[in-house]
Amino acid sequence: MERAQTGLVNRAAACIALAWLLAAAGCAPGGPPVWRGPTGGPTVAEPGGAVRAFHLTAAPAMVELAAGTRVHAWAFDGSVPGPTLRVRQGDLVQVTLDNRLPVGTTLHWHGLELPNGQDGVPGITQDPVPPGATAVYSFVAGQAGTYWYHSHQHAVVQVDRGLYGALIVEPRGAAPAAVDQVLVLDEWPLGLERPSPAPAGSPDMAAYVTYTANGRTGRSIVPIRFQPGQRVRLRIVNAGYLTHLLHFRGLSVTIAEVGGRPVSGTTPTDAVLPLAASDRISVDFTAPAQPAWLMLADGLPPAEDVAVPLLPEAAAVPPPPSPARAGAALDLYGLQASALQPVWPPDAVPNRRFTLRLSEDFAPGPGPRDPAGVRYLVNGQAYPNVPLLTVRRGDFVEITLVNAGQYEHPIHVHGHSLQLLARDALPLPGALVVDTALVGPGSTLTVGFRADNSGWWMLHCHQLHHSLGGMMLLIDYEETRRLAQPGAGSMPE
Ligand code: C2O
Ligand code: CU
Repeated sequence: MERAQTGLVNRAAACIALAWLLAAAGCAPGGPPVWRGPTGGPTVAEPGGAVRAFHLTAAPAMVELAAGTRVHAWAFDGSVPGPTLRVRQGDLVQVTLDNRLPVGTTLHWHGLELPNGQDGVPGITQDPVPPGATAVYSFVAGQAGTYWYHSHQHAVVQVDRGLYGALIVEPRGAAPAAVDQVLVLDEWPLGLERPSPAPAGSPDMAAYVTYTANGRTGRSIVPIRFQPGQRVRLRIVNAGYLTHLLHFRGLSVTIAEVGGRPVSGTTPTDAVLPLAASDRISVDFTAPAQPAWLMLADGLPPAEDVAVPLLPEAAAVPPPPSPARAGAALDLYGLQASALQPVWPPDAVPNRRFTLRLSEDFAPGPGPRDPAGVRYLVNGQAYPNVPLLTVRRGDFVEITLVNAGQYEHPIHVHGHSLQLLARDALPLPGALVVDTALVGPGSTLTVGFRADNSGWWMLHCHQLHHSLGGMMLLIDYEETRRLAQPGAGSMPE
């Protein structure tokens, strides 16, 4: 057994060396091609933690967004969103991915700081899991909060088609609210009414015509139910590409988490809450005796599709209120982090500084492009030509994101948490910790992180059309520097 495994490893190494020469041909004559799965996962929980095993099957599925509106989705366990994985801080999480899609896929654990080999980025940390194969991911859930999982292989297509779900890490030693529910928001493009593969030329955002909450739209949305007086936590995950403005009607809420992580000292608010692509916000409230609603105040007509009834048990679903003019959105980046997870001590002095200038290029020419033909650049370059962001373990790294373009960019980092330091040169004293930093046009945002997780890590815009169009780069640790050799068919964007 041992010998056979060593042979397999050697063969895998030879295969990796040859993989990009032999491309799709595979390199094990007479045998199945060898591929690299996730590596470096822990095998024990933290003291007091449990082992939590999950099984996710990725497969094509016909999904009904509303009566009469059906799409050919790709789904985990047949539903979009996929199952919510709920664990406790310190648990060892083991997830078997069973790929029954017609193409390779991976699982990425958005927002969690995991060993690099568990990050699920094809061509960087593993090869795509081939059709018909399984892979096991294994990690300790170290951070409490609201996260999500999604495919990172050809993500612009696979996330679009529905390969995502929520991942909740309950804090050690705290009882959950009586009602604790997740709402995953998304938007769906025209074209998925037809079976896979999608027609050539993906649509741009104008083609996203159906907005969903937990995979349903309009009157088909399943209400959130409670008993009046109960403590309710609602965790909202944005799996789509647009920033949404959340508007609670008939209810004041207390903000419990921003960027998936706990905040402190907030008071009940009626304000509109902005939620960037890939980001999360959680709110707490005391269940009212009357129906209330969560609506979108984006001003986009289809956003009126999303009116989520928040209802006492057994109450009939009333017609939704008409969209109201919402007030100004709350400035979430002015809130105060809970003291639980400081990333950047108050006296930290950055010893690496980077400036990333984000821009768009509408001129025709070579290079990666979004579906509308636009290139999205970092310091004038598109991935993979954006220079590596090289750090050394122990560094305090400061990154200034300068949005010199006309679109907003939700910039997401893998494997690390970012502390917000300053916006437009004014300090952000709230010390919020996030994994996605939303930078508006004309705005500058300075973030800091501690380089404490060696490996190769993506930093990219989570409007996945923008990452497809080039807005993506790699963070590289000096001491682990090596060439990441993409396996055949790897498509991280
Ligand atoms: Cu949601 Cu590169 O990740
Ligand atoms: Cu962007």
